[in-house]
Amino acid sequence: MDKLIINGGPRLNGEIRISGAKNAALPILAATLLADGPVTISNVPHLHDITTTMELLGRMGLELTIDEKMNVQVDSRTIREFFAPYELVRTMRASILVLGPLLTRFGRADVALPGGCAIGSRPVNLHLQGLAAMGAELTVDGGYIRATAKRLKGADLMMDLVTVTGTENLMMAATMAKGVTVIRNAAREPEVVDLANCLIGMGAIIDGAGTDTIRISGVESLSGTHYEILPDRIETGTYLVAATMTGGHVKLKSTKPELLEAVLSKLHDAGAEITTGDTWVELEMNGKRPRAVSIHTSPYPGFPTDMQAQFTALNCVAEGTGVITESVFENRFMHVLELQRMGAQIQIEGNTAITTGVAKLKSAPLMATDLRASASLVLAGLVAEGSTEVHRIYHIDRGYETIEEKLSNLGAQIRRVPG
Ligand code: EPU
Repeated sequence: MDKLIINGGPRLNGEIRISGAKNAALPILAATLLADGPVTISNVPHLHDITTTMELLGRMGLELTIDEKMNVQVDSRTIREFFAPYELVRTMRASILVLGPLLTRFGRADVALPGGCAIGSRPVNLHLQGLAAMGAELTVDGGYIRATAKRLKGADLMMDLVTVTGTENLMMAATMAKGVTVIRNAAREPEVVDLANCLIGMGAIIDGAGTDTIRISGVESLSGTHYEILPDRIETGTYLVAATMTGGHVKLKSTKPELLEAVLSKLHDAGAEITTGDTWVELEMNGKRPRAVSIHTSPYPGFPTDMQAQFTALNCVAEGTGVITESVFENRFMHVLELQRMGAQIQIEGNTAITTGVAKLKSAPLMATDLRASASLVLAGLVAEGSTEVHRIYHIDRGYETIEEKLSNLGAQIRRVPG
């Protein structure tokens, strides 16, 4: 198993390109199941979760071709199986996203029920409730969701909680249901909008994506299309935090700063000077130490839970005390124990982390537990005294494309070694 070795110290300086968004690419790959013709997707990030999704689609019999620029073409006309096995679902919960498309287009799906994960219990009850309201017959048997439906019917769905993949699954199911579906209290995340735009390109009729009420009029069939994935706002935010923590100056290209308002506002509070264009963002810290910030995570357009761990790392070396409350997931402070081993002063009270910055963190061998937690450990390593080893970095490879290469391009001393 590879590990990362980081020698802390250098200020990050330079320009890098941001990759396509993982959390848009995953539902869009699942949406290819809906099209009665080839779908070509560009700006697909080269990530472990993407490979897992392609493996899942390939096992169902879909034809996939990938060129050297990661343009992926998927043709679902060769589908043989309507099945997502546990061995793949357990490594990637987003596999649940094939349920809605399979059911609405083929009338059946057997998908392993995702279990708990490192960031909480993460049930899928709202996905299932929504599909049942649209007329699906669902049973859970032997750890599998077994779903059938003649043709799904449009329904008025009031979601109890804002759920991103829940909204995506139901929106995909509704595209080919009979009649109109309304999803209320829908997730407004940019990745939901990206999926809706791709579905519209395939011929779906969808209004209101990006608001809390999405209306979908079902159609008989959808066709192939070409779609370019939007840039990854969480990858963008992570490199901006890295620059802020190291007192550096970076320019990130091929991104979309308008999707990062809550994050940019907190970086501004931390003392960063930020300039943006439509497709780039530049951050200058002038060698200063950041100020601690207080944050409350919430669904978009609120502050993203996927940036919580990185800002916890920032607070560890900032001036003053910052209070971070995690309100989306129940157990998303696994990084705190590791950061404490580097000398961070963090106190956990329920779902709140109270951090008082120290002048220097000290390197230590660290264990990555989930994707964003691992990113926060890498950030801490960039400013720690000495050489930090981050183990179990397969978590990072799920969501950050060539992180060591991008950070090296910005002047960090980081390398991947086997073992
Ligand atoms: N929830 C339920 N029942 C459901 C669905 C969700 O109780 O049926 C709860 C969850 O347990 C959680 C809350 O609702 O407490 C929100 O979860 P959500 O369903 O929105 O999360 P998700 O769709 O499973 C996506 C991203 C996550 C990101 C969250 C929140 C993808 C593939 N994953 O997960 O991304 O943290 O939304 O923004 O889009 C990551 O990239 O590191 C990551 C974990």
